[in-house]
Amino acid sequence: MKILVSGGCGYIGSHTVVDLLKENYEVVIVDNLINSKREVLDNIKKITNKEVTFYKVDLCDKEKLKEVFEKESIDAVIHFAGLKAVGESVEKPLMYYENNLISTINLLDLMREFNVKKIVFSSSATVYGNPDSLPIYEDFPLSTTNPYGTTKLMIENILKDLYKSDNSFDITILRYFNPIGAHKSGLLGEDPNGIPNNLMPYIVRVATGKFPILNIFGDDYKTVDGTGVRDYIHVCDLSYGHVLALKNKKTGLKIYNLGTGKGTSVLELVKKFESVNGVKVNYQIAPRRDGDIDACYASNEKAVKELGFKPKYTIEDMCRDSYNFVKMNTN
Ligand code: NAD
Ligand code: WQD
Repeated sequence: MKILVSGGCGYIGSHTVVDLLKENYEVVIVDNLINSKREVLDNIKKITNKEVTFYKVDLCDKEKLKEVFEKESIDAVIHFAGLKAVGESVEKPLMYYENNLISTINLLDLMREFNVKKIVFSSSATVYGNPDSLPIYEDFPLSTTNPYGTTKLMIENILKDLYKSDNSFDITILRYFNPIGAHKSGLLGEDPNGIPNNLMPYIVRVATGKFPILNIFGDDYKTVDGTGVRDYIHVCDLSYGHVLALKNKKTGLKIYNLGTGKGTSVLELVKKFESVNGVKVNYQIAPRRDGDIDACYASNEKAVKELGFKPKYTIEDMCRDSYNFVKMNTN
C-alpha cells in the first residue's frame, strides 16, 4: 500500500514515516520544508534502512501536487502538512488560513479526482477550547481561541461536509494532545527555529544552557500545584496511532483523541526532567500566558477500544528522549 504523507519531514510526520516503513508500507513524502530539513530523509533511511520517495512541493501549488498524484499510485493519505505556531497565527492569521486551508482543499480535491478515498488528518486538542469538564471526550463542544486552532476546526468541518457529499470517503480525524519526546536513536525529534512556544523544547534549551531560565506561566491555576496541567504523549506512541488508524476496519468518518489520559503539571514535568536526566532546569514563576487553560487531558477510551491504541511510554521516557535528541544534535 502506498501512502502519501504530507508534512512527512516534520516532527510527527517523520516518526510516522518510520513506523509506516517498518510495517512495509510504501511512502511518498510531500513537504515544502518550511519547518523541517532535508536531512530528516537521511535519518529516516539510517533508522529503517528503507527508501522513501520525496517531493519538495508546496501543497498550495495545486499543479505541482497534481504531478505527484499523476506519477504515484496513491492508496491513502496522512495529512500532517500545516503551520502550527499558535502565537504566530495570531500575528499572521491570513498566512495561517491560506497555508492550512488552501493546502488541504487542494489535497482533498486531487484525492477526489484520482479516486483516493482514505485520509488521516492531524487535528488537535485545541479544538476543544476551554472544556467544561475533564477528561475530554470526542463529543465535547468545539470552539477555538486562535487562528491556528480555527484552521483545524475549519478543516474538520470541511472533512465532515466532504463525507456528507460522498460517503465513499474514509476519513479519520486524530486530535492530538501534547506530543513530546523523540526517536530513541536521537536521529529524529523536534527542533523548532527561534524561541520555542511549547514547554518541552524550552525546558531542553534551559537544560543545555541555550536559554538562562524557564518562565512558568502562572502558578495560580486550579491544579495540583497551581501550574498548568496537560496530557503529554510520546511522539512514538502518537505516530503509531496513525498506523492503527490506517489499519482500522471501521470505515466512514471517525474522530479519535490521541492522548495518554493522564495529566502532568508544568512543575511535575520540570522535576521529572531534572531527575531523569540529572540536570538542573532554572525556572521562575511568570504571569499567565494569554489563552492558556488550567488543565487539559484526554479520554482515550475510544481510541483504545476501536483502534487498539495503547500508549506505552512514560513521562520519564519522554523527558529522557527529548533531552537525548537535543544533546545529540547540538553543534
Ligand atoms: P511540523 O511543523 O514539524 O511538521 C509540519 C510539516 O509540514 C513541516 O515539515 C513543514 O515543512 C510542512 N508544511 C507546512 N506547510 C506546508 C505546505 N503548504 N506544503 C508542504 N509542506 C508543508 O509540525 P508537527 O509538530 O509535526 O505537526 C504535524 C501536524 O500535527 C500539524 O498539522 C500540526 O498542526 C498538528 N498538531 C501538532 C501538534 C504538536 O504539538 N506538535 C499538536 C496537535 C496537532
Ligand atoms: C504547556 C504548558 C503552558 C511554555 C499547544 C497548542 C496546541 C497544541 C500543543 C498544536 C502550559 C506552560 C509553556 C513555557 C510554560 N499544538 N508553559 N512555559 O499550550 O497546551 O498547547 O501545543 O496543535 O494547539 O496550543 O502546550 O507546550 O505551549 O504549554 O509554563 O515557556 O506549559 O502555560 O500550561 P499547550 P505548550
